[in-house]
Amino acid sequence: MTKIAIWCRHKNDNIIGIGAAIPWHVKSDFQRFRRITEGQTLVAGQKTYESFPNRTLPNRKIFVLTLDENYEVSDSQNHSVVNDINFFKDFEDDLYIVGGATVYKLFMTGSNKLIPDIVVDCIYQKDINPNLKGEPVDITDCIDVLNKKYIQVSLDYEQDDITTRILIRKGEFVEQSVLKKIVKAIEEGM
Ligand SMILES: NC(=O)c1ccc[n+]([C@@H]2O[C@H](COP(=O)([O-])OP(=O)(O)OC[C@H]3O[C@@H](n4cnc5c(N)ncnc54)[C@H](OP(=O)(O)O)[C@@H]3O)[C@@H](O)[C@H]2O)c1
Repeated sequence: MTKIAIWCRHKNDNIIGIGAAIPWHVKSDFQRFRRITEGQTLVAGQKTYESFPNRTLPNRKIFVLTLDENYEVSDSQNHSVVNDINFFKDFEDDLYIVGGATVYKLFMTGSNKLIPDIVVDCIYQKDINPNLKGEPVDITDCIDVLNKKYIQVSLDYEQDDITTRILIRKGEFVEQSVLKKIVKAIEEGM
């Protein structure tokens, strides 16, 4: 399997959320996320899962990470609960890691067997509205790993104040077909 992390973070401070929400609303960013993840298998933390409209994303299989063994998903045909991240160590399908901060950190800073092969790093370049209420959530720990262990393999794609780039782990084999699919999904929206 190939593990792909995809996020959109704020420039410099690496904030990905304020409280439960993403602190910007850029339509082309949601569209890019949909094109990249449609038809794929995703893993999301319980908080991020709860933030999806109706707790679902059409045409995607979702694994919800929670420590709650009795957690109930909205669609038991397409969504499942996972209580232990080690479940993914022997996973065979490609896996898209879609946040939030806790889940990115579990994969990026945890065991070698779970560290993403590919990162789709979207960077929001404008200032965040300073009036938003809630605790900022950042992924600086993950960006430290990204800067040390990954190498950029794509152009910088600029659209609607967001820079998107693809990175892979230095010195590791990456499935070219997955990489090509992601590049195509990004370029289709440009
Ligand atoms: N900008 C972006 O690209 C992006 C993407 C996604 C999310 N976000 C933002 O990220 C923020 C949410 O991040 P978050 O860190 O608070 O929440 P999260 O990662 O979505 O979910 C955290 C939950 O994961 C479960 N969990 C934690 N450790 C676990 C473990 N070892 N094993 C199994 N389950 C475990 C816990 O669920 P239980 O409490 O149920 O046990 C925990 O509450 C929001 O602001 C959201 O908008 C931004």
